[in-house]
Amino acid sequence: MSQRVRFALAGFGAWGRCHAQSIAENPDAELVAITAPSEASREEARQLYPQAAIFSDARTMIEQAEFDIIDIVTPSHTHREIAVAAMERGKHVLLEKPMATSVEDCKAITQAARSSTAKFAIGNEFRLSSQWGRIKRVIEEGTIGDPQYVLVELSRKPYRQGAGGWRYDPARVGSWVLEEPIHFFDLAHWYLAGSGQPVELYAYGNSRDPQRPQLFDNFSAMFKYPNGSYAVVSQTLAAFEHHQTIKVSGTKGALWAGWSGALDRTLEPDYFLKVFDGENVENVVIESHSGEVFELREEIRQCIAMVRGEPYTLAKAEDGLWSAGLCLLAEESIRQGKPLPIHEMLTV
Ligand SMILES: NC(=O)c1ccc[n+]([C@@H]2O[C@H](COP(=O)([O-])OP(=O)(O)OC[C@H]3O[C@@H](n4cnc5c(N)ncnc54)[C@H](OP(=O)(O)O)[C@@H]3O)[C@@H](O)[C@H]2O)c1
Repeated sequence: MSQRVRFALAGFGAWGRCHAQSIAENPDAELVAITAPSEASREEARQLYPQAAIFSDARTMIEQAEFDIIDIVTPSHTHREIAVAAMERGKHVLLEKPMATSVEDCKAITQAARSSTAKFAIGNEFRLSSQWGRIKRVIEEGTIGDPQYVLVELSRKPYRQGAGGWRYDPARVGSWVLEEPIHFFDLAHWYLAGSGQPVELYAYGNSRDPQRPQLFDNFSAMFKYPNGSYAVVSQTLAAFEHHQTIKVSGTKGALWAGWSGALDRTLEPDYFLKVFDGENVENVVIESHSGEVFELREEIRQCIAMVRGEPYTLAKAEDGLWSAGLCLLAEESIRQGKPLPIHEMLTV
């Protein structure tokens, strides 16, 4: 297919606007339709993207617009309805993480993806990163031996409110673990792929705000594999700026990566990756900028490949179910105050 791939965008908020920009700047893509419920967002969409048809409702856009793929960047509690409606109409889907806010909704989306003729990808874009993806290659090359321990840690400032304050409303956000730690569960599991499936998870969390004790400002979880390997995923929203660390220790060596920016979406971040092969430490050269804005551009490039039937490495429905399921199990572990078995939520 040589024509440009036509994208319909559901959601024109903080991250949806970044999606719109990544689509608009790609010469193989065309932004043909945008949905936003509020007149203020629709007006801004009209000004910025005058060629796009503007809708107030995603179902109407799905029924009336001519497009190849829908890119869903709406509040997380709306994901199921929009994704399933699009796949029922045979439209390819890129769905932002988290897949949904309950395991039941994630399973419904996964089933719809399996029975649809259309292709489905979930926005676990950290895997596409020049830096976090390079760690996977170092592991696969065997430089550090078999990984036995993975730490993914983020210190940052509080989350944005989101349109209508949805991100601070437990009923609409589901869990703050679904917001950012979901990426870290996905990365840690990806790095430990050689260990099979994890079997047990234990989590802790606390909040600074007595009005919303179930939305954790500080969150940590550990999950382990049958061979004794384990991962630690940890985040604080009670810090400043945006600083992420990944450490992996293997049977032979270890690696350490860091990313720092004044903001999560800074265009000039600082980042590094050091790899120790058991004898020497190498400062690995990262070929291109690392950060979510850059990963998003790659995600859009890969969506174009997916629609055109070319090779791509975007995360699949099962990855979305797994990572959201693990976040929700972590919530349950905190509620129950004990480690929980993992296996059941992984199957549809
Ligand atoms: N992968 C990542 O790294 C990443 C990063 C950030 C966010 N996300 C995910 O992306 C999604 C959006 O996050 P955000 O920060 O962009 O939120 P946001 O700023 O609140 O934007 C949400 C947008 O969705 C629109 N909207 C609300 N309900 C809708 C509905 N039923 N149908 C269609 N549009 C609807 C809102 O419209 P109005 O503007 O008209 O109110 C707004 O434009 C969330 O699921 C979030 O978890 C992922």
